[in-house]
Amino acid sequence: MKRPNIPFIEAPTAENVSRAVAWLRSGSPIGLPTETVYGLAADAGSAEAVAKIFSTKGRPADHPLIVHVASAAAAKTWAATWPDAAEKLAAAFWPGPMTLIVKRANHVLDAVTGGQDTVGLRVPSHPVAQAVLQEFAVEGHANAGLAAPSANQFGHVSPTTAAHVATEFPDRLLMILDGGACEVGVESTIIDVSGDSVRILRPGRVRASEIERVLGVKLSDANGDVPRVSGALASHYAPRTQTLMLATPRLKMQLRAFRQAQVKQPMRCVITHSFDAEPAEHLRAIRLAADAETWEYELYALLRTLDEERYATLIIEAPPEAPEWDAVNDRVRRATQRDNEENTATE
Ligand code: TXA
Ligand code: MG
Repeated sequence: MKRPNIPFIEAPTAENVSRAVAWLRSGSPIGLPTETVYGLAADAGSAEAVAKIFSTKGRPADHPLIVHVASAAAAKTWAATWPDAAEKLAAAFWPGPMTLIVKRANHVLDAVTGGQDTVGLRVPSHPVAQAVLQEFAVEGHANAGLAAPSANQFGHVSPTTAAHVATEFPDRLLMILDGGACEVGVESTIIDVSGDSVRILRPGRVRASEIERVLGVKLSDANGDVPRVSGALASHYAPRTQTLMLATPRLKMQLRAFRQAQVKQPMRCVITHSFDAEPAEHLRAIRLAADAETWEYELYALLRTLDEERYATLIIEAPPEAPEWDAVNDRVRRATQRDNEENTATE
């Protein structure tokens, strides 16, 4: 009997980890839990397997992928050179939510790097990701690694549960290992150590201050010739519902205006951190603790749920500007960029 083309979620038993590795060896992608977000993982050494990641995600072929490996020692086999900064950062933050951009080794496929002379490498800490990577490497060829972008359709919000992955690919035969809700909730911090100075390309749970402490230097800003990072596109990670970010005073004014309006208001949802918005017939109010880690953990899952509930608008209180909020600010900006621009344009 032919299997229907639908995703299936499996518990991460030893047997299912072996099944997942068998899928990977046969060139098929799988849904893989990591501590940041779920990945759509495939054999980074196979051009055919990597091509399936792009076709499954609908992602432009010149966007580079991160290669996931089980250890820093394995990571080095994907790099042409291993700078001192890479050594220090790997020792401090791997396994964990950090990706290093280094000069690529000769064997790394162009399909993985988007034709660039660098490659992104990460050693995830999630026990299920580790189990899969270790088993994949054991009997595998030399330089075993898994290319894995976030397991979402190009431009969508990244998945933080196995069920999210299944919703993203409803008509694909795809094995998804269930590793529970991702502990971090936003994608890894990407640090470029391939050039003369170290730069953060994407903020994440590993903070700029921690990187500076480990390296003993001040970081330069990631501006100028930013490489192709799909996360660097203006509108990315965006929900379908109109989603706005408003500074606290402006948000409070808006909420008063909604309350006082004479005409019936459309149903909106507001997410705050610094005050309780008054719920009303036309307004759902959610307050998350004023803590960056809570926001990182909750943000994507919340955007997904609220997107399903079909509000006219989601309004997010602008997060604090403090450095530990960099990752949250980055993701909220991306999620709201499209609609915030339209909103100011029509004011
Ligand atoms: O936490 C994460 O990093 C997750 C999990 C699954 O590991 N993965 C992830 O992959 O977020 P993805 O493909 O959605 O985002 C990776 C970003 C992309 O924006 C890509 O352009 C960038 O990393 N990237 C990969 N290789 C690069 C390179 N050689 N130079 C610059 N950017 C690179
Ligand atoms: Mg992504």
